[in-house]
Amino acid sequence: MNDKEMLHNAPIGVFDSGVGGLTVAREIMRQLPNERIVYFGDTARVPYGSKSPETITRYSSQIVRFLQTQQVKAIVIACNSASACALETLEEETNLPIIDVVRPGARTALETTVNGKIGVIATEATICSGIYKRYIEESGKSVSTISKACPLFVPLVEEGLWEDPVTDEIAGRYLAELIDSGIDTLILGCTHYPLIRSTVGRIMGEKVCLVNPAYETARALKQLLEKKGLESEKRPGLGTELYRFFVSDAADKFQKFANSILPYGILSAKVINIEEF
Ligand code: DGL
Repeated sequence: MNDKEMLHNAPIGVFDSGVGGLTVAREIMRQLPNERIVYFGDTARVPYGSKSPETITRYSSQIVRFLQTQQVKAIVIACNSASACALETLEEETNLPIIDVVRPGARTALETTVNGKIGVIATEATICSGIYKRYIEESGKSVSTISKACPLFVPLVEEGLWEDPVTDEIAGRYLAELIDSGIDTLILGCTHYPLIRSTVGRIMGEKVCLVNPAYETARALKQLLEKKGLESEKRPGLGTELYRFFVSDAADKFQKFANSILPYGILSAKVINIEEF
């Protein structure tokens, strides 16, 4: 294989604090079936959303350094908290093209809203950064946003309580003020949240359109690879390891979880010591 082919066939590095980024990886697998993926879930240090921007940035830099050892050709930050806190630093630290999940999510919400009232639910780190509000307001459209941090959603998802009375109860409390605000669009501003989409949708009612940034993120990745001439030309043959998974802890639990979300069974997830990077 020559250098050009090697670059085309290099994987996309995708990362999150845990399993949430699998909702983005799943969409990349669907929209870009020829692309290889190296996924890293920071299962030892999840959740990110309750940590400081400095800590989230340090973790994200370590992960990008690890992904670079896997010869990735581009990075997808499949975590809103890391996108909100670490994007600028990561862009300074690497020459690789980087796609975040916040800008695609904000763009989709702007295209979706009819009454100009957009809600954002996300982790504390994402909401405190004010990033969705900023991107939405920068559009120049007359749109208002209302944001709500939902810190218990990530542990509920990580525990697999997607359809559970406990999740219903907590979601009901978090979402009450958003229902009263008259929004017609709600951004699921954390990549874990699409896994409790049906609960959120049921509580918000069918008049509120839920935006999952994963779809637009995969589309943005496709456009970026095309623009840079980096697309993989053909689907790797049978027996080629198309998707590889790494975690910082509890590989078995992650593997079981991933197998319940992804269209393809994953063979294994390997534990690495991310603090070494
Ligand atoms: N899934 C991540 C996000 O999109 C992080 C959640 C967390 O670890 O708190 O924000």
